[in-house]
Amino acid sequence: MLSAPYFTHKGTVFPETALYTVDHFNYVENEFQMLDDDVVSVVYPKSGTHWMGEILSLIRQDGDPTWARSVILWDRIPWIENAPTKDIVLNYAPPRFMSSHLPFQLFPKSFLHSKAKIIYTVRNPKDTLVSFYYFSKALKFLKDPGTMQDFLEEFLSGDVAYGSWFDHVKGWLAMKDKPNFFIHTYEELQQDLQGSMERICRFLGKELTSQQIDSVVENASFETMKDNKMSNFTQVVDEYMDHSKGKLMREGKSGSWKKYLTVAQSEQFDRVYKEKMRGVTVTFPWD
Ligand code: A3P
Repeated sequence: MLSAPYFTHKGTVFPETALYTVDHFNYVENEFQMLDDDVVSVVYPKSGTHWMGEILSLIRQDGDPTWARSVILWDRIPWIENAPTKDIVLNYAPPRFMSSHLPFQLFPKSFLHSKAKIIYTVRNPKDTLVSFYYFSKALKFLKDPGTMQDFLEEFLSGDVAYGSWFDHVKGWLAMKDKPNFFIHTYEELQQDLQGSMERICRFLGKELTSQQIDSVVENASFETMKDNKMSNFTQVVDEYMDHSKGKLMREGKSGSWKKYLTVAQSEQFDRVYKEKMRGVTVTFPWD
């Protein structure tokens, strides 16, 4: 198995890449000032980060797709934790729309004293696992995942980049009763993108007409995003991605884990899920 080097920062595993530095993590956690009109999409990897990025940048532009078609996604909705894009975040004309994979304990502390809005997207972790497995084959700073069984064991024990899915979800669920925190699922987006857009706009205080919402829905669809080179990851440089081994816009389905996990693997997953999610009162579509 190839081994891309990882490091652990305050208990969470990150890939060793120029994107992540301990100095920047400390700056983000302790010094970065969230503004009241900030909007942050927080997502555990492979759970719909880019989809939400596209949706939010379309909503920010009242459904007009010009920005989404002309500016690369990670400049439209930059990652807070990525060191090289610090200036893009700091120079962003308000309202800033940003993205993050950070677990709650590493997120800017200033959020707790601000009215900044967070949209937290969760996905059926079995689909996340499968998506992560295939993406790990292509993204060069992620470890080669080995077999599905190898990766399943690592995912369940939290020994994967960005840390444990269970800790991420449980950490962020602590915010669920805050008025500036919105939690929803990838599955809800799949089932009813229109209704989800209306709920998200209401949360953001954005009044879009039904035509503008229709435009968001159309331009954030899997088919449209797949062909948008500003959003489909095809512009990631070869230094970071082996495009012959995988792609971001892979299947875009809910429940397709059934094609990839054996019954025994699914049962193993369920046992750990039940144990680790004990005490969680929120019910998800896959529960
Ligand atoms: P699959 O690998 O299951 O296809 P992230 O953006 O967090 O890295 O998540 C990537 C996953 O989101 C991929 O899942 C990708 O296909 C899916 N995705 C991206 N855009 C989507 C869209 N517009 N509609 C549905 N799924 C989308």
